[in-house]
Amino acid sequence: MTEKRVKKLLVTGAAGGIGRTIRTMLEPVAETLRLSDRAGLGEAAAHEEIIYCELTDKDAVEALVAGCDGIVHLGGQSVEADWQTVRDSNIEGLYNLYEAARIHQVKRILFASSNHVIGYYPQSQLLDAQTPPRPDGLYGVSKAFGEALASLYHDKFGIETAIVRIGSCFPEPVDHRMLATWLHAEDFVSLIECMFEASRLGCPIIYGVSDNDVVWWDNRQVAYLGWKPKHSSAIFKQILDEKMERPHKDAAVSVYQGGVFTEHPIMQRDEK
Ligand SMILES: NC(=O)c1ccc[n+]([C@@H]2O[C@H](COP(=O)([O-])OP(=O)(O)OC[C@H]3O[C@@H](n4cnc5c(N)ncnc54)[C@H](O)[C@@H]3O)[C@@H](O)[C@H]2O)c1
Repeated sequence: MTEKRVKKLLVTGAAGGIGRTIRTMLEPVAETLRLSDRAGLGEAAAHEEIIYCELTDKDAVEALVAGCDGIVHLGGQSVEADWQTVRDSNIEGLYNLYEAARIHQVKRILFASSNHVIGYYPQSQLLDAQTPPRPDGLYGVSKAFGEALASLYHDKFGIETAIVRIGSCFPEPVDHRMLATWLHAEDFVSLIECMFEASRLGCPIIYGVSDNDVVWWDNRQVAYLGWKPKHSSAIFKQILDEKMERPHKDAAVSVYQGGVFTEHPIMQRDEK
């Protein structure tokens, strides 16, 4: 990117796994990065601001968003948990964020949704941007809420959101399922560049996945964004085959797109 389209980009959840990985890679995207989390973020670099914020604190979130013209929303509960935990961060927290975006007229957001929104679809079915949610747990349900909230704020207020159903954004695939779901961090960052560069974004559902050989998700309906992932999980296949046995064909991890998340119980607060 030549000219930076975003002046001040808020990144929530910046202390998390993805946030830490992409932090230094985001410098070309915006003139200033406003990094936020409730966990430690270290020292701010010259182009960074650090603001600690609990997403359930509505006033704090409103202050956090003030002055930003783009948001990458990674903050929240990122795996299955008890209802209160999921609700606080992913329902209340997300509502606070969108309300703050409305009040401060932030027009473009990336919402980190999840493959667990569609976790109960079989791995044999190819999904696309029109595929309705079929969540595999309370976490997946909360992400379905997020997708609906993004849609509401688009239709009612014109706030554009890239709803990214992220697969598995880790340094490398750690099991055979991730050969289909893996997202290289560089591909995620190039998607962030594309969504802020696009003249029109809208409120599309995008599958956050690299150019893997095993394909469950079809991104052709968002081809207008011009996003072309460069990485592939294929180089890890042999390593995984040597390291571990393929799971049984009838195991949840082989049947469902959400894998073992389909096997989680409804967790209670004291069972965490
Ligand atoms: N890593 C993946 O492969 C993957 C896959 C699908 C979706 N996602 C989504 O992407 C986002 C980032 O994922 P990650 O792997 O970096 O998760 P993570 O758990 O490592 O990071 C999430 C961050 O959010 C912060 N957070 C949680 N609740 C908060 C609250 N109430 N107030 C303030 N901060 C809060 C945490 O402190 C943490 O640093 C999450 O929303 C997750 O659901 C990630």
